[in-house]
Amino acid sequence: MSAIHLLRKLSKKPPSRLHRNLLSSTFSMDLPPDLARTTLIRPFSNHPAIFTNSHRLIPSCFRQSNLLPNWVSEKTKSIGLSSREFSTSVVETNTSDRVVGLSPNPLVIERIHKGEETIGESVSGGEIIGNEIKKSEETLVREESEAEKEAWRILEDAVVRYCGSPVGTVAANDPGDKLPLNYDQVFIRDFVPSALAFLLKGEGEIVRNFLLHTLQLQSWEKTVDCYSPGQGLMPASFKVRTVALDENTTEEVLDPDFGESAIGRVAPVDSGLWWIILLRAYGKLTGDFSLQERIDVQTGIKLIMNLCLADGFDMFPTLLVTDGSCMIDRRMGIHGHPLEIQSLFYSALRCSREMLSVNDSSSNLVRAISNRLSALSFHIREYYWVDIKKINEIYRYKTEEYSTDATNKFNIYPEQIPPWLMDWIPEQGGYLLGNLQPAHMDFRFFTLGNFWSVVSSLSTPKQNEAILNLIEAKWDDIIGNMPLKICYPALEYDDWRIITGSDPKNTPWSYHNSGSWPTLLWQFTLACMKMGRPELAEKALALAEKRLMADRWPEYYDTRSGKFIGKQSRLYQTWTVAGFLTSKLLLANPEMASKLFWEEDYELLDICVCGLSKSGRRKCSRVAAKTQILVR
Ligand code: GLC
Repeated sequence: MSAIHLLRKLSKKPPSRLHRNLLSSTFSMDLPPDLARTTLIRPFSNHPAIFTNSHRLIPSCFRQSNLLPNWVSEKTKSIGLSSREFSTSVVETNTSDRVVGLSPNPLVIERIHKGEETIGESVSGGEIIGNEIKKSEETLVREESEAEKEAWRILEDAVVRYCGSPVGTVAANDPGDKLPLNYDQVFIRDFVPSALAFLLKGEGEIVRNFLLHTLQLQSWEKTVDCYSPGQGLMPASFKVRTVALDENTTEEVLDPDFGESAIGRVAPVDSGLWWIILLRAYGKLTGDFSLQERIDVQTGIKLIMNLCLADGFDMFPTLLVTDGSCMIDRRMGIHGHPLEIQSLFYSALRCSREMLSVNDSSSNLVRAISNRLSALSFHIREYYWVDIKKINEIYRYKTEEYSTDATNKFNIYPEQIPPWLMDWIPEQGGYLLGNLQPAHMDFRFFTLGNFWSVVSSLSTPKQNEAILNLIEAKWDDIIGNMPLKICYPALEYDDWRIITGSDPKNTPWSYHNSGSWPTLLWQFTLACMKMGRPELAEKALALAEKRLMADRWPEYYDTRSGKFIGKQSRLYQTWTVAGFLTSKLLLANPEMASKLFWEEDYELLDICVCGLSKSGRRKCSRVAAKTQILVR
């Protein structure tokens, strides 16, 4: 049967997902990717996902990155310069390597053996100076602890293979778990610390495969009760399944979950953002920038960005999402504009700005990205920031102000300030709110969002310092017996009943409702290293190391001080293991760590696109507001 014939048949009756995956392997090698997108999408628009994703048209046996057809590399070569070359960010000084095609600072790790046993590793790197690679003077020899050795064994056991190649790690490998639900799948967000651990160890293959295979899943047909979410959406997770082709042959297929099976049907908004962040990290840590330059990868970035930047009814530059659309993937009252999504969004925008090739077809998008970055950082720095001074201001707010230059723009009633906060907020320090909407401030402290704001420079340098000051001052609450509380404080009594919908998994001081998640260690480590305070991370890591191995690497801990292994916690949770290893490796390799965070981009601070200041008829509200913001 010809490809066209087959496509016609498909347009009448949608095939099952597995069926389509098999079909895509059988006929479509003859179509170059841009042709597949522009020509086939129209006549068969009933099922656009079948035809629009060029890379899915590659037969499964060719899907390995090194076996791609010629047109992939030819197309890749024709891409123009990326805006990364023009970046003003301080950590971007080594970009010349990309122009001359050299591999910057490849990390060399040699394992040290005593007999059969690995007893340590020697880590060395190089540096690009001008166009030359210079080996760095410093070579570090570090002995692995027992916990690290066990962690590597568990991480390696968690690796999932597809067509013989490593493509990710399962969420948990708990032998005692009789009901793994979807913990036997590769989660996009969970894989990030695994990927970093592998990259920091000098193993890039699994990460490259993961990035390419998840890219294939991006344009999969996805429906929840016959409704399809946006095209660039990345799945929350995927599984490798073996399907029978006939009596004697089987084939492996990737089966993604876009939320259509997930508990609560939550939308995995963070997946695409993490994918972009990981893509940049892969380039930075391996020096292999050819991956991000590939045309299919560039298209993947654009699809995600277009989805995030699509016009809607939003009044704010923050991304509007439903509840549970990130690491907290159950109802926890984080719908609207939760900080975690905003900080990942900001990072993904910065990564995309660096990685997108600037040409005629991308220049509008690149401009939109810069404008959004500027508007988003202004909004978060100005309106999400709380410290003792700001709380006092809110405490004295006038309400019901109708004007463009209102002080209390969101009409926050001072009675909303929760009593716990008045006593809790330290003199030194502050943090970014969990969420902001009309007449609503969520004053809970959300750890990932705050750390990731530090890492990405979403918050100002002063705010970044203040966030770490707050952690230090509130050590017992945020770290206690086990780093780190996912948020603080817990929702209790009526709040728990109303906001979580009486969720028995999210009872006070458990799971997402202020449980302690060791995986967050790596983000804390990165934030501390960026701010020149690695000793804070070392202290937290030492605390975790004392218990994690003995406790069999739990997913999370419960109680106010993180004393108990979580009520329903999985054991041998991969991102607990990987978060621990990544923290260790980051601390041991500050130079590599510095490739993963961003400094302040002063160029962004000056962009204001509202045009009001030029017309002179009305005042730009940013100018008035800037008096309060701690910008530099
Ligand atoms: C839970 C967590 C989620 C994680 C998943 C797999 O659902 O809330 O963040 O990705 O488990 O570990």
